[in-house]
Amino acid sequence: MAEIKPEDTSKCQMKKSSTLSALGPEEDSVQRTTFDSGYDVTKGFVDCKGFFGEYGGFSETNSQTAAILADFTQEYLDTKDDEGFIQELNSLQRHWLGRPTPIYHARGLSNCLGGGQIYLKREDLAHTGAHKINHCLGEALLAKKMGKSRVITETSGIHGICLASAAAVVGIKCEVYIGENDWAAKKDDIAKMRMMGAKVVKVTSGQKNLKEAADKVFDIFVNDSSNTFYAYSTIAGPQPFPTIVKDLQCIVGEEAREQIVTVAGRLPDHVCGCVAGGSNALGIFQCFLTDDDVKLYAIEPEVNTDAVNLGNPGAGYMESFALLHEINYVQASEADVASAFVSLAKYDGITPNWESCYALAQAIRLAPQCSKDEIILVNLSGRGDQNDCNKALKHCGLDFSDTPDDVLDT
Ligand SMILES: Cc1ncc(COP(=O)(O)O)c(C=O)c1O
Repeated sequence: MAEIKPEDTSKCQMKKSSTLSALGPEEDSVQRTTFDSGYDVTKGFVDCKGFFGEYGGFSETNSQTAAILADFTQEYLDTKDDEGFIQELNSLQRHWLGRPTPIYHARGLSNCLGGGQIYLKREDLAHTGAHKINHCLGEALLAKKMGKSRVITETSGIHGICLASAAAVVGIKCEVYIGENDWAAKKDDIAKMRMMGAKVVKVTSGQKNLKEAADKVFDIFVNDSSNTFYAYSTIAGPQPFPTIVKDLQCIVGEEAREQIVTVAGRLPDHVCGCVAGGSNALGIFQCFLTDDDVKLYAIEPEVNTDAVNLGNPGAGYMESFALLHEINYVQASEADVASAFVSLAKYDGITPNWESCYALAQAIRLAPQCSKDEIILVNLSGRGDQNDCNKALKHCGLDFSDTPDDVLDT
């Protein structure tokens, strides 16, 4: 069994805090949920100039592109509160996606660590096995309600599968662009996406990577924005894309806040989310932003990591939030991550996604320093596959292939 090594959290970097009043204009907000804490999750919506509060805007120097983005933002603002849209989204979230996902008290792991109590928001149990489905479903449905004929995106991870699934259930065309360098590794996913009716396109230009695929998708969007919805995979890109993803991930924080109070009787002391662009981290954080006693941790990989899906260039928007609030950026090593993976498997029978284990590693670090009644909430953003499992075993030097077979002698 790999050893769990709690580490000093003093390397946490504290970001400057401010008040919520710096967030977006009131007139852009919708009446959805207001929590007892007074935090109105409907604040912080982007306005049609791409700003949320004093931050944001369109970085596009090309005025034509800026105008397209402004129009698209307005279409989004006009659609997001539509009753039909909200009802259909709620219904699909419940009956197709599997919401609300549960909160689980990881007793085995908590007992082993001897300290704070670790709770997991089980996004690994959402349809497709990852939190990405939350924004993909919303994006596909928004596209349809906005009168677009297709959703398009690039992928090198799970986002393509999530978007193809969402497009199939919503009944809208889907196109997924993949760099040639990722093509072979995505063979099984490509077949699955095609089975669900998506058109999957190989991008052979430039370095043939995700970046070229993303450039291609942005060009297609700009040239045909009246028919096309660019479904971003994370909190990245120009406005309104980061805000759309943030808004659609808010469901995770809304549920988690209510559930933790129901099961544990109070708000958590610590909330952990792994961060690349920030869709899962901000998804859960945004509902605890004004709770001064709740500490938020965004966990990113150390340099030279295997976390191929972390490290997206989405830092800008997430950083803006971190500037407005206190979000502690911390790092976890691959050894921490592998150990977290194996520990959760052993003590609670859950094999999480490799990326999610960055958040779990921070919880494992914190728990021994906490008292027994302190609560650490982890956004377990996805379920692990065999690759994740093999990677964790390898990192921890575990090899069960040598274990002699137990044979029932009949
Ligand atoms: C399961 C899972 N969690 C987390 C991430 C990181 O992305 P984000 O920061 O947008 O949540 C990814 C990225 O693909 C992922 O697949």
